[in-house]
Amino acid sequence: MAAKDRPFLSDIQTIRKRARQHMERGAVTDTYSLDRNTVLKLLNEALATEIICVLRYKAHYFLASGINAKSVAAEFLEHANEEQVHADQIAQRIVQLGGEPNFSPEGMLTRSHSEYVEGANLLDMIKEDLVAERIAIDSYSEIVRYLGGNDPTTRRMLEEILAKEEEHADDLRTLIETLTNTGAPAT
Ligand SMILES: [Fe+2]
Ligand SMILES: [Fe+2]
Repeated sequence: MAAKDRPFLSDIQTIRKRARQHMERGAVTDTYSLDRNTVLKLLNEALATEIICVLRYKAHYFLASGINAKSVAAEFLEHANEEQVHADQIAQRIVQLGGEPNFSPEGMLTRSHSEYVEGANLLDMIKEDLVAERIAIDSYSEIVRYLGGNDPTTRRMLEEILAKEEEHADDLRTLIETLTNTGAPAT
């Protein structure tokens, strides 16, 4: 058959028949070509990463509020809330793919790509947050590359999260610049 006559999609009868098989798998159809367990493991690692980021930003928010660094504290809180949204999105996708989101505190730090470091002062806190964001940026980029064109929904979700982490990293870089240039704590 000439290329121009070849159907772009599988023929509709095949698609309809396939959709009726394995209905218990919900959104996961037979054309899902990735290893689902690998994707679920990667997503659970991303979930742990987000939860650790929520905890670290929350700790930093309250610590910074305590030392009267209001504008930095506000930034920490905003990031904490956005990481929580990411965690929820990832957990939701894990369920859609027929997996179980792992919220167990046990092993959370091992599953997480980023670390939990409190930091001795405001500048240290911001630096630790920037390190964590850079780790997330790196590991999410890698997951996106692994997914390639084989799971567009997960990929799109992670690309959106990735863009947010890049924004976070940029916010933190700006904060570090402001703090180190003026020498005074931003309030
Ligand atoms: Fe995040
Ligand atoms: Fe982030």
